[in-house]
Amino acid sequence: MIIKPQIMRGGLVKNPHPIGLKNVVSKYIDYTKSKGQFTGKKRALIIGGSSGYGLASRIALAYGANADTINVSFENGVTDKRLGSAGWWNNIWFEHFAKQDGLIATDIIGDAFSDEIKQQTIEAIKREFGGKIDVLIYSLASPKRKDPKTGIVHSSVLKSTTGEVAAPTLDLAKERIVDGKMLEATKDDIDETIKVMGGEDWQLWVEALQEADLLAEGFKSTAYSYDGAKATDLIYKKGTIGAAKRHLEKTAHELNDALKNIQGEAFVTVAKALVTKASAFIPLFPLYGCALFKVMKEEGTHENTIEQIERFMRDMMYGDKRIVDEVGRVRPDNLEMNPATQQKVDAIMEIMDNDNFKGISDFAGFYQDFLEINGFNVEGVDYDKSIDVEYLSSLALNA
Ligand code: NAI
Repeated sequence: MIIKPQIMRGGLVKNPHPIGLKNVVSKYIDYTKSKGQFTGKKRALIIGGSSGYGLASRIALAYGANADTINVSFENGVTDKRLGSAGWWNNIWFEHFAKQDGLIATDIIGDAFSDEIKQQTIEAIKREFGGKIDVLIYSLASPKRKDPKTGIVHSSVLKSTTGEVAAPTLDLAKERIVDGKMLEATKDDIDETIKVMGGEDWQLWVEALQEADLLAEGFKSTAYSYDGAKATDLIYKKGTIGAAKRHLEKTAHELNDALKNIQGEAFVTVAKALVTKASAFIPLFPLYGCALFKVMKEEGTHENTIEQIERFMRDMMYGDKRIVDEVGRVRPDNLEMNPATQQKVDAIMEIMDNDNFKGISDFAGFYQDFLEINGFNVEGVDYDKSIDVEYLSSLALNA
């Protein structure tokens, strides 16, 4: 079978390329290895570690902290109709490389919001890690959450809290800017989004692990957030997603207090805007990304996902170069937020249209990253070569 990229509505790709993804995971691992260790051996739990920031965290910890890892993610394996999601292959290949390198790597596939998966994870920590973890990375991006207590399914929405706003975005399949708007959120929309993307589930995880006495002395936990500046404020900071992130921040303070007795800590990490499955879906965000990449690459400050997270882990999670803002959030997005950088980004955003966006922004780089997270256009892969579906289907997690 030969696979070519088939971009569907909403920026999803039908069949990600398994071999391309193997090379991407391997490239991320090589990058981390090239930087050397940043701390001693850790036992890490990653919630949402199959793609984006969670995958980068898993790799950075495994190869920069010699960490054994358990990852909880929601991904589809191979079926008659589909070849498996990108995150599925990232898990397969991460396990493959980590085990080759003598690390424990366990994957739990299922709904991280559920009590069952929390219980399964607790069992895995007892079985695989001798009953303690040193670090929990919370990196979920999900449109829905079933509340384990009530059974009610909550849906997050991308709406504005300041009235209807224009939100043009990129149609990646057609390579065009398309008009769009963000509708005004109701109180219910805001509450629903907070239920899904706020801090409640992170808190439930930490409480469940603490109750089971699985947190080691000095335990650390972080959840990722985005803040952004003028260009994205109306759709992000002042959107329903921003309201959920404020809730996440409030949760961080509560968790931080609850962890003091074990000299532990919890904080929100504000990360840079990058191309992931989740971010490609947020209106305006891809256009902002194209402008931002252009400016940051010209300045020499651009980082991809693994570069951003490796620096965060080395300097700020475990190092002594932590940048903390006035509300206690850790800020590896410092280079993106540089006022001079933002000024240049604003200038591009102001004049960007369908006739000029490929020239004045880094559309090519953004599009390349989008293809890459789906396993396409990756160096060293022969895309005209048929892939062995039977062999790939036989690969299993936790084998
Ligand atoms: P992503 O889409 O690449 O990854 C999401 C992860 O969540 C995947 O591992 C997926 O399997 C997992 N997941 C989703 N629903 C699940 C469920 N019910 N049970 C178990 N696993 C589930 O997303 P991305 O962009 O890496 O987002 C992670 C976090 O980083 C989010 O909180 C996001 O707001 C934040 N962030 C993202 C930025 C970006 O530019 N992409 C910038 C700053 C923060």
